[in-house]
Amino acid sequence: MSNISGAYPVHVAIIMDGNGRWAKKRFMPRIAGHKAGVESLRKIIEETGDLGIKYLTVYAFSTENWNRPKDEVNGLMNLLVNYIDNELNNLNKNGVRLNILGDMSALPTKVREKVEMALVETNKNTKLTLNIALNYGGRDEIIRAVKSIYNQGDSELIDNLDEDIFSRFLYTANIPDPDFVIRTSGEVRISNFLLWQLAYSEMYFTETLWPDFGVSEYHKALDSFKNRKRRFGKI
Ligand code: FPP
Repeated sequence: MSNISGAYPVHVAIIMDGNGRWAKKRFMPRIAGHKAGVESLRKIIEETGDLGIKYLTVYAFSTENWNRPKDEVNGLMNLLVNYIDNELNNLNKNGVRLNILGDMSALPTKVREKVEMALVETNKNTKLTLNIALNYGGRDEIIRAVKSIYNQGDSELIDNLDEDIFSRFLYTANIPDPDFVIRTSGEVRISNFLLWQLAYSEMYFTETLWPDFGVSEYHKALDSFKNRKRRFGKI
């Protein structure tokens, strides 16, 4: 008997990689690749909502990405601000609630205020939760959780600490772990993304660069998920 569920994942996470190479192949600046990446993201968000998938998490900016050239960092921040300006109405129309995973305090004020406004404006939407990992690092998140637990000064909390309680101190508190992770551009690694949460996630790697990742390739990936046998460590 098969234990393949044939169901869509509840939570999809995506490492949107390959924007720089996409641009380089076209003799364009890297930021043009990121711009094309935002277009891809727009389509994937819409499709995710249409399919009834409840959570989509995308890796937009890691704690390590600050080390990129200043122009590129500024360019990415501007893209995020523009994205919110252009898409807020659509997000609301499509029932998308925006959520940020990461340390927002380190963002430039203009970006932080824009993001905070979008969080409030989309707060009541229930169709799809879009988690944007922004200034996010998996190890950083775990250390913050440990410090936060310690700072409660509650010895009972420490005595009773288990996986479920620990999870409540992560950026993803109250969000189910991703069932399925997609990474584009042929790189086969996790790159400090959701280290705790990906413990039992199914992985999908494709050579396609993120700006070329469209709805049909998304369906191909999701079909692959539907055929996976998930065992969660059991037999
Ligand atoms: C990886 O490609 C991509 C990123 C570091 C940024 C991803 C960001 C976006 C798609 C835009 C985010 C904007 C919003 C609105 C959420 P890379 O630059 O590492 O590509 P490469 O490996 O080919 O150089």
